Amino acid sequence: MKSWSGRFSKDISKDVESFNTSIDFDSRLYREDIKGSIEHAKMLARQDIISRDDAARITQGLERILDEAENGEIRFTADAEDIHMNIEKLLVEKIGEPGKKLHTARSRNDQVALDMRMYLRTEIRQISSLIKSLCSVLIKISENNLETIMPGYTHLQKAQPITLAHHLMAYVFMFIRDLDRLKDTGRRMNVMPLGSGALAASTYKLDRRSVQKSLDFDDITYNSLDAVSDRDFCLEMSFDLSVLMMHLSRFSEEIILWASREFSYIELDDSYCTGSSIMPQKKNPDVAELVRGKTGRTYGSLMALLTVMKGLPLAYNKDMQEDKEAIFDSIDTVKICLPVFTQMLDTARFNKDAMYKAAKDGYMNATDLADYLVRKGMAFRDAHEVTGKIVAYCISKHKTIEELLPDEMKSFSAVISSDVYDCLKIENCVYSRDLEGGPSPARVTEAIEIAGSRIRAL
Ligand code: ARG
Repeated sequence: MKSWSGRFSKDISKDVESFNTSIDFDSRLYREDIKGSIEHAKMLARQDIISRDDAARITQGLERILDEAENGEIRFTADAEDIHMNIEKLLVEKIGEPGKKLHTARSRNDQVALDMRMYLRTEIRQISSLIKSLCSVLIKISENNLETIMPGYTHLQKAQPITLAHHLMAYVFMFIRDLDRLKDTGRRMNVMPLGSGALAASTYKLDRRSVQKSLDFDDITYNSLDAVSDRDFCLEMSFDLSVLMMHLSRFSEEIILWASREFSYIELDDSYCTGSSIMPQKKNPDVAELVRGKTGRTYGSLMALLTVMKGLPLAYNKDMQEDKEAIFDSIDTVKICLPVFTQMLDTARFNKDAMYKAAKDGYMNATDLADYLVRKGMAFRDAHEVTGKIVAYCISKHKTIEELLPDEMKSFSAVISSDVYDCLKIENCVYSRDLEGGPSPARVTEAIEIAGSRIRAL
């Protein structure tokens, strides 16, 4: 029998029962549901809405259910529809009459809003700590590679030399923004909706503030309609996780390129790669590819959530039960990707020689030559033109710029003298880019310090 069966003269169809149930995916809310119910019951007793004795028995019963659930001893069932009614049903089975009083002054609408906020704020903390572990590994590698010169790219064409540290720290700053976004989402999420009832609050004199405090919320919600129909916090978190995955996916793309024989910048550990069923020589960067591939799921979830919410009138509608699989899948995806991605990087070896060789090739010191000409008094546009001609000449002679003889150089401009060779050295091209935010080892060292203190504060 359903807890709402009073006004019905027929049983629910079996098809509708299995269509309607959410227990397969919302059972993961059991901890939050039980904690919320315990504090609700205690508050009801403090407000003399139920007796202290009933509240104590409800609390004990719920704590036993929690224990059993933690030990995997409970099988939730579809006939009790969702996690909220499953737990209430188990409670009544355990403690009898007092269990029927738990739902006084409460609706599943404010209950599910509470559970989701509590569940997601915990997940934000866990995901943030996984992001921080990834950042620690990246910072460690960066500290060891402040002087590891590599090509920097635009359009995937060699552009100007940078260092591996500078490149990896770019990702650290992306992940810091991800941490910051999640924290901000967590701040807006952390408001307590119980007391909103089904939609129009309650006739009982509830003490919402005490429930807010005991469940560790920063504030309460101030509009009962909004409180039960708001899923902005799911959307925001889904967006945050999509951006995080987008960052991981871009990084994955680079790792896949770098692991190719053509680049050979990185050697992934055997334990983080797979082989081919037919080609014996293959070693594939599957981890990075799967992270890149799984990014699509998080975008799909974000679109699903936006679409579920777009036409809903106030307040609660059953459509909103669809919020769960979407956001849970994004969470699971991120939590499976982050640790394995972190370990893949932690165990990888970077091939400094290949990076250095690649940086020497490709005329990446051409901008430095143009800047040299500017220092000798030439206008930048003219310097750009002269340097372009020198590069074209080098290409035709199969030489690098620094391999040209002084006379060859001078034939392009009389202002060039032998001091030009210093500024053409690839190391100097990096070291002289010494502005805040630039790739020189001193500046990257500063950036690492700033990143570290930001991460500690997040
Ligand atoms: N399982 C439901 C959900 O996740 C709980 C709220 C149900 N409320 C209702 N009035 N049917 O949205």
